[in-house]
Amino acid sequence: MNQTLYYGKTAIALHWIIAALMTVNVALVLPIDLFPDNWDRPVIDTHKSIGITVLGLALMRLLWRLSHPPPALPSSYRRWERHASHLAHGLLYALMFALPLSGWMHDSAWKDAATHPMTLYGLIPWPRIGWITSIEGEHKEMLHDLFGDWHTTFGYVLYVLVALHLLGALKHQYIDREPEFERMGL
Ligand code: HEM
Repeated sequence: MNQTLYYGKTAIALHWIIAALMTVNVALVLPIDLFPDNWDRPVIDTHKSIGITVLGLALMRLLWRLSHPPPALPSSYRRWERHASHLAHGLLYALMFALPLSGWMHDSAWKDAATHPMTLYGLIPWPRIGWITSIEGEHKEMLHDLFGDWHTTFGYVLYVLVALHLLGALKHQYIDREPEFERMGL
């Protein structure tokens, strides 16, 4: 169970594993144009595998959170800070799902999906989303672009929210002098 002031071990582990995997996933794909061309496939395949792993962990994290209420916010938080932190945390939860799902949808609408089956880490066969792969022709191309745009946009929202999340944590730790980092196991 989460104790009164600090998150429990499982919540802390899930927070840091997901944060690390999402960071690696962004760091892998953003500089892709700088890598040699023959790196594209292995890099994107690894990106997809990590993304699906995040989706599974996000599901576990949501279920854990619903069954293990988080510790209360310190009483020094002002009203607007409570609202802002709940909003930011809610949106970060939504992004843990929206990013992998939009990526999976984008990939399922890829015209070459049939000739490039998806495997997790080159080991475990993984399905595409059936109703998307079964769409034909131009319509599929349009959806591929649309889902790709969603995926990119969710990425931008993530950068902004993570920046705010970090600034908030730094403020509470160093300006308000609350044991903010300790709440998350640091
Ligand atoms: C933690 C989950 C994920 C994160 C944080 C993430 C993040 C990103 C970001 C930031 C980009 C670059 C977008 C741009 O600037 O245009 C990208 C591209 C892409 N992602 Fe994801 N993604 C995730 C999961 C997935 C999943 C699960 C799949 C597919 C199953 C996927 C497939 C792709 C593909 C195909 C691209 C385009 C790569 C290219 O051709 O340049 N992503 N992703």
